Amino acid sequence: MNVWRRLSGPRRALALTGAGALVAGGLVTIPVTAAQAATQCDVSYTTSDWQGGFTASVTIRNIGDALNGWTLGFTFPNSSQRVQQGWSARWSQSGQNVTAQNESYNGSVSSGGSISIGFNGAWSGSNPKPTSFTINGVTCNGGTGPTTPPPSTPPPTTPPPTTPPPTTPPPTTPPPTTPPPAGQKVDNPYVGVPGYVNPEWKAKAESVPGGNRVSNTPTAVWLDRIAAINGTPDSSSNGAFGVRDHLDEALRQGAGYIQFVIYNLPGRDCSALASNGELKPDELPRYKAEYIDPIAAIQADPKYRNIRIINVIEIDSLPNLVTNTSGQPGGTATCDIVKANGAYVNGVGYALAKLGAIGNVYNYIDAGHHGWLGWDSNFSPSAQILKDAAVASGSTVNNVHGFIVNTANYSALREPYFKVTDTVNGQTVRQSKWIDWNFYVDELSFAQAFRNELVSKGFNSGIGMLIDTSRNGWGGSARPTGPGATTSVDTYVNGGRVDRRIHAGNWCNQAGAGLGERPKAAPEPGIDAYVWVKPPGESDGSSTAIPNNEGKGFDRMCDPTYTGNARNGNNATGALPNAPISGAWFPAQFAELMQNAYPAL
Ligand code: BGC
Repeated sequence: MNVWRRLSGPRRALALTGAGALVAGGLVTIPVTAAQAATQCDVSYTTSDWQGGFTASVTIRNIGDALNGWTLGFTFPNSSQRVQQGWSARWSQSGQNVTAQNESYNGSVSSGGSISIGFNGAWSGSNPKPTSFTINGVTCNGGTGPTTPPPSTPPPTTPPPTTPPPTTPPPTTPPPTTPPPAGQKVDNPYVGVPGYVNPEWKAKAESVPGGNRVSNTPTAVWLDRIAAINGTPDSSSNGAFGVRDHLDEALRQGAGYIQFVIYNLPGRDCSALASNGELKPDELPRYKAEYIDPIAAIQADPKYRNIRIINVIEIDSLPNLVTNTSGQPGGTATCDIVKANGAYVNGVGYALAKLGAIGNVYNYIDAGHHGWLGWDSNFSPSAQILKDAAVASGSTVNNVHGFIVNTANYSALREPYFKVTDTVNGQTVRQSKWIDWNFYVDELSFAQAFRNELVSKGFNSGIGMLIDTSRNGWGGSARPTGPGATTSVDTYVNGGRVDRRIHAGNWCNQAGAGLGERPKAAPEPGIDAYVWVKPPGESDGSSTAIPNNEGKGFDRMCDPTYTGNARNGNNATGALPNAPISGAWFPAQFAELMQNAYPAL
């Protein structure tokens, strides 16, 4: 059965689109003075308003006994006020009454602890703040409890000043949080701050007609060889900027976060050829001394302490030790070697420990994608190997802020027209050829489930997931508009699926793909951000062998004439023709990605 499916070099994205920092509006603080009640709270509610919309930041401070599960309640003063999209809680609204229930990961609040949640909302006329809040039915200002004395401060007699709504467009991200003291990391580094736009990628994007529609999107900077640390002006992938140049430019831009991909393990890309790297499987000492140490030295420069530095750690690496070693359909000799000599596990542990020690650095480890790890045989063992790496080489799980899925891959964020639990003529969707017994049909469901699995393996309950949405849009004229015919599970799934690949194991320069969700902070429960880690328009690998001095091989999964292997069910590769080596600019692909963008540009 469906044991494996790594589907080799799955390639590999957040831009806080137009992410302007916002100025917080008014503040309502409702103190509690009674000491004896079990539930006591202090809620601050601030908003940043613009014509018709607003972002609200709500901080609940627990000044009573520890809470194990909480529901916040308040009433909007006006009937026009609506919650549209919330984060860090399950938000709902009935009439003017709003409730926010804890997520599974933030239900416990110690005495003295606090929780920050928020939402984007709509209003017309005016946007007054709620005047009273409850936690688990108990009023935070103590007004309802018989034992609670009335607030000691008299209500204000003058109305709050009304500031005219700004004319700037509505922000797409929640407002900034006050920067934490040096060394203390925020829960979600993507919230409230603009992302770094790589000028080198921006220039490439703008070289293609229409590229200026997306060229201000934050994309990640790939450090795919030692030379990339100081810049590689003569390589066809990557650019002249080194790590310092990017960080200096981030300071100049006033960026709040920057994303790097740490991608140079010994024996890199052990199950594929397109992104093999410069370090041989036994070169872990060089990885540490010549690659991680110098990157850490630059990232630790106090000059950059106010930028949240996000490191995506070693894509396409650890799950290979589960799915592509001897005995697996996709087993390779190189994966066997790096499993046996510990190069991946110890290399990742070293990177985590060294980089995670820096106060403003956030590590997210790559965790494959649903079409690789969504089977039981791969799911839990992969979570375990990620845990093993997180505690290797002196690291601890505290060096891990979260995980990223779908890096440089093409799996749809959501399959809107079928669910894994659907059946057709008594057969489950899992029996369709496309799903092939996988337990997940899309990346969002996989990311959320895998997060829970990782927590059960010992990772902190506050970890967040990233989803690379740079190329998983699947829009354009081939996108289905409803479910497939119920003749069989196959007609049902094939007719309705938005992921139009020939096989979910195909990973190289996929024809028909489009740009996916634009980067966005806290889009769904458990998800820190949608990100663009693979810079769209950069090739996954060449379609024919091209000599190069970057260690890049030729993988036939990038050849449109190849009819496949066991890993993709012996199907055609669906790769675009005339592709340059991995990382090099591929304008025809970029044009197609824009054409098929979903949401459309
Ligand atoms: C390549 C890297 C490149 C990255 C981003 C990978 O497939 O191997 O060289 O930097 O993609 O495009």
